[in-house]
Amino acid sequence: MSAPKILSTGRCLPARVVTNEELSKTVETSDEWVYSRTGIHARHFCEKESGLDLAMGAAQQALDRAGLKPEDIGVCLVATFTPDYASPSMACLLQKHLGMLEDTLCFDLNAACAGFLYGMKTAHALLRDSVRPYALLVGCEVISRVLDMTDRNTCVLFGDGAGAAVLCRDEDAQWHTVFGSRGDPESIWVQGPGPDKAAVHMEGKAVFRFAVEVVEKSIRQLLEAEGCGINDLDLVVCHQANARIIDHVAKKLKAREGLFYKNMDRYGNTSAASIPMALDELVLAGELKPGMRVLIVGFGGGLTWAGALLKW
Ligand code: UT7
Repeated sequence: MSAPKILSTGRCLPARVVTNEELSKTVETSDEWVYSRTGIHARHFCEKESGLDLAMGAAQQALDRAGLKPEDIGVCLVATFTPDYASPSMACLLQKHLGMLEDTLCFDLNAACAGFLYGMKTAHALLRDSVRPYALLVGCEVISRVLDMTDRNTCVLFGDGAGAAVLCRDEDAQWHTVFGSRGDPESIWVQGPGPDKAAVHMEGKAVFRFAVEVVEKSIRQLLEAEGCGINDLDLVVCHQANARIIDHVAKKLKAREGLFYKNMDRYGNTSAASIPMALDELVLAGELKPGMRVLIVGFGGGLTWAGALLKW
């Protein structure tokens, strides 16, 4: 199937780092509990920054690295479940503040932690008929805004951040994808709107079971479509919710050590931002290079899941 090409990436995090140690002063928890159950040591929380500040920072980096200007973009999508406003969309705000042209197709999409891959699929479809051949896709979340900081079951898990990518049409690029959704407002949900009501609720064990099921299944489907084995891949980048989910799947698939990337120790679960932030880190570290075979999987609220196997 023809695929979009990722030309560049970017990332932006709020300045404030909140450690497990700090959280343990306000809720009954410990670094030992959180790290051993999730692999998370710290996360960034917005203090002064808005979601738009994060999205702008990540988007500007991605544009600069692609050598493009805002006027070159034909499609602008923001994947988020924590936008600054219900309306205008984050994408419309980005259009104005970055200076994209008024005929740029701008909107937000909400597929929770699978949002970046849903965004790639959407951008790819829209680019076929776009006024200009480049799309800007941003995963941006300010989850601290919807956390109940007295609920230790959820407040230790999430973080804020943004990751961005510039995509272009590429007639030669190929990928395999899988997408799924399962309407379920009981395993993970965010009540809203309204500051008193807006909080993340999660049945952790149910979401854990769902995650290991769909991540393993998606990877197996993508490997079968590609006709290769797990250890023929160069890299697997999963949504960074919990190190134990990733380790469990890697073990079941008999993946070699280090194949599955993990960075939730520093960022927590940043939902739609986690995959583009991880891709950006890998590119900058020189660990993700052109020609590498990469498998990406997202999963989360909705419930939603998505996977893609592509050549970088
Ligand atoms: O991006 C969306 C996708 N989300 C996910 O993938 C999350 C999936 N789920 C998980 O990652 C795990 O289920 C959690 C990390 C959320 C929880 O781990 P768990 O091993 O399933 O723990 P649990 O919820 O069964 O809780 C075990 C105990 C409970 O105490 P009791 O009832 O056994 O006395 C909890 O109250 O741990 C307690 N607990 C905590 N203790 C210290 C729950 N949260 C905390 C905490 N600190 N922060």
